[in-house]
Amino acid sequence: MEYAAKLKTPGGLQHGYFFTKIKPKLPTAQEAHQAYWNHLSIDNYIEGDYKFRQRKYARLEINFESQEIANLGSTYFQEEEFNELFGGQHRVFSPVDSDFLKDPFFLKLLNFDYHFFKEHKLLTGVKHYVGIHQIRTTTISKRLGEVTPEGIHKDGHPFFGIHLINRVNINGGVTTLYDNNRNLLDQITLNSFGDTLLVEDDKLFHGVSPIGSISDGLGFRDVLIIEFY
Ligand SMILES: [Fe+2]
Repeated sequence: MEYAAKLKTPGGLQHGYFFTKIKPKLPTAQEAHQAYWNHLSIDNYIEGDYKFRQRKYARLEINFESQEIANLGSTYFQEEEFNELFGGQHRVFSPVDSDFLKDPFFLKLLNFDYHFFKEHKLLTGVKHYVGIHQIRTTTISKRLGEVTPEGIHKDGHPFFGIHLINRVNINGGVTTLYDNNRNLLDQITLNSFGDTLLVEDDKLFHGVSPIGSISDGLGFRDVLIIEFY
């Protein structure tokens, strides 16, 4: 199994998080993958006149043995206790493109995350519900992009991977991790395509600092979040 070498890294997930880098074999695959973030839809659940988030979402049921993927739609729900800003309501987002769900690098990330949590005995069985979030946070001139407008939080889904897709003309966007007593554990900036943070939600709180543009004009941070329900 090609995942084995990475998974044996000392300290993997002992504090509830793990950082690694996942690269495509071909550089052209990076550009093809990044292009999927260029036509997301405005997240209209963001309040205020500056809508700093764009996204697409898919809820899937996946058999990781046969690699069969059933698309169950694009309605997302978080319990209110986990998201005071948006929780307790069904949010309907634009659906992820069907082509994206066949993209080789997407399938690589998806299977990496699955095998990672399986090797850590956090996922058992082969069939799982999986949430796919394509998210772009934008900033322009002095308008900051709030990456986590809900503040320091838990997602309310047991395990997830955050994969950096792109950072363009921004500063900030630093991920801070806290233990369950909200003591600071670590600060990590996902900088390059394929930078990956795997999180066991029960053990941590997390937050990401806002992004600002380095020079005037548009700046953005693109991520793929793969969560296991
Ligand atoms: Fe989160």
